[in-house]
Amino acid sequence: MESVKQILEQALAEIKASNELPALDELRVRYLGKKGEITALLKTLGGMEHEQRKAFGQAVNVAKAQVAEAVSARKDALEKLVLDARLASETIDVTLPGRGQQRGGLHPVTHTLQRMCDIFSRLGYDIATGPEVEDDYHNFESLNFPPHHPARAMHDTFYFGDGRLLRTHTSPVQIREMMKKGAPIRIIAPGKVFRSDSDQTHTPMFHQVEGLLVGETVTMADLKGVLQTFVNSFFEASLDMRFRPSYFPFTEPSAEVDIAWDKGDGQEPGWLEILGCGMVHPNVLKACGVDSEKYVGYAFGMGVERLAMLRYGVTDLRQFFENDVRFLRQFH
Ligand code: PHE
Repeated sequence: MESVKQILEQALAEIKASNELPALDELRVRYLGKKGEITALLKTLGGMEHEQRKAFGQAVNVAKAQVAEAVSARKDALEKLVLDARLASETIDVTLPGRGQQRGGLHPVTHTLQRMCDIFSRLGYDIATGPEVEDDYHNFESLNFPPHHPARAMHDTFYFGDGRLLRTHTSPVQIREMMKKGAPIRIIAPGKVFRSDSDQTHTPMFHQVEGLLVGETVTMADLKGVLQTFVNSFFEASLDMRFRPSYFPFTEPSAEVDIAWDKGDGQEPGWLEILGCGMVHPNVLKACGVDSEKYVGYAFGMGVERLAMLRYGVTDLRQFFENDVRFLRQFH
């Protein structure tokens, strides 16, 4: 009985003195664990007389409960101390304004491209893409620009040392798609194009959307109809359009298309060029293995930034590429 009292007193004193959670847990194991000191006392019960065993057993059980109680109370106290220390060292001012989260948005050029693709998809056009690094054959030769043809000079081309080049228009995608899929075909090809040119209305990189439709009974009237439908849908207005005779080696006849644009300055609307187009030249069909006796087609190519500038009233094309967030945010 004396040893029970001793162990109990010692345990309670040590528990009271422990001031870290791991140390406290060691104490718990030392007294109450399977091989603990109090557990060991219970194992001596076997060799005792009945009366003695009853009194001793009771005393050990009371001691055990007291130690368990002390451990748990000390544990609560230590945890509270840890928490208090943390609360004291980490101060959070819940009244500070939050940092907030800026909402992202599509770049206006991306948005315009998607809008154009949506409109043509609804008209049944498939979307096609091609490489930005091209060769002379796809960018020029197969599009009916023979070597030294003066029209090549109109495209201030960026060349690589090995004769490859950055495509100057999306028209090479016409060639690649017709070579792959033949006729009939109906595609648009959105993408980046490159020309060595830079001022308020030209940047060395810009975007075009190319269109190509080849079938057995395609006419210039179909081309006009599709373009008028596109323009009205894109600008959500009924705009006057005019076709001006022009020249591209890969279309015959060729035209440039202007829309009547009201600047809102009280003046009569002026004509603004938005695209080039024409009936696909038979040489282009032949270069792609398409029977030019059986098939005819039209093609068009439009400047995406030009359309974005008109739609959003942006006056300097270069703003699209400076990526000043104050400019870009206005389009969210
Ligand atoms: N590829 C021409 C350009 O970039 C545009 C065009 C495309 C003209 C298709 C006619 C047909 O200027």
